[in-house]
Amino acid sequence: METLVVKNTVSLRISLTTECQFRCLYCTAGKDHVGDAPAQRLTVEEIVSFVRQVKGRFRIEKIHLTGGEPLLRSDIVELVRRLSRLGIGDIALTTNGERLVDRAEALRDAGLRRLNISLDSLETRMLARITRGGHLERIVAGIERAGALGLRPIKINTVVLRGVNDGELARLAEWSLGHGWVPRFLELMPIGPAKPLHGRLFVPVQEIMERLARTFTLNGPLPEAGLGSTRYYAAASPRAVGRIGFITPVTHPFCAGCNRLRLTEAGDLVSCLACGLGVNVRQWLAPEGKGRPDRFANLLDRVLKTKKGRGLFQTETPMMAVGG
Ligand code: 5AD
Ligand code: SF4
Repeated sequence: METLVVKNTVSLRISLTTECQFRCLYCTAGKDHVGDAPAQRLTVEEIVSFVRQVKGRFRIEKIHLTGGEPLLRSDIVELVRRLSRLGIGDIALTTNGERLVDRAEALRDAGLRRLNISLDSLETRMLARITRGGHLERIVAGIERAGALGLRPIKINTVVLRGVNDGELARLAEWSLGHGWVPRFLELMPIGPAKPLHGRLFVPVQEIMERLARTFTLNGPLPEAGLGSTRYYAAASPRAVGRIGFITPVTHPFCAGCNRLRLTEAGDLVSCLACGLGVNVRQWLAPEGKGRPDRFANLLDRVLKTKKGRGLFQTETPMMAVGG
């Protein structure tokens, strides 16, 4: 199938670690994942080398840093600084928020502009139950700190789970909108540990919207610039107004316009969440200067061509292994 990349533009998603101090019930099967990072994790130097080489071949629309939990890496601030010095204007980070209070200012000073924060509940006990390790007050304090520092947009991601948090969707949306954040609701993907839970916990977007429509009038989808995976609706309730995003990999796969390239912490270059693991590129990255730009560019083209252009989010690989 022909490559789906539009005008030689790619969006990079770089997973910095598979470690996470949470064990969200749909992401990780049981044990926590602190301290099990592979010895061969890419260094800041190697990631910068990767980005520089991709930049030689494609226009980079955006770099999204993911995990696991990226703030568990002590060199995260250094990485953001180096990437922003490369002239990457649009750097985003997805975090569980637990360590944000302490890191937000340094990240902003290093060049981070926007943030995606996972928040599946506004009830202390429910959040602890879903994340198995998260503290609501700490996460909320982190989000508020980031907001006060001027980071924008701040997107609040909620994975909707039947019988778990589907009763508090309107409250979550009103809370986010009231602070000026952007609420987004995600359909549960049947990947990794979420696979056996999917039948019981999955809520399709139509039902997510029906639930919100009890509180909000929703109008959309709004026309969007770019090829994002989120569809936004204008939303208004008696207490809040703004836009709400829906990420619907299961009912409306967004593969057709996808120009993402993913890099795992071990240096595997993956064209798509649904395609399993890809080609390891580490040998092309270090030491700096020894790369072969021509051959690396060919490799990028080959990996991009493996995009299948259809949604098959059924892999055994959990989100934390490949980058959210
Ligand atoms: N389905 C949907 N979203 C998921 N995430 C992690 N695992 C899944 C899954 N199986 C979410 C996280 C985070 C984002 C990167 O992906 O909650 O918000
Ligand atoms: Fe950690 Fe995010 Fe997975 Fe939760 S969903 S266990 S916060 S990586």
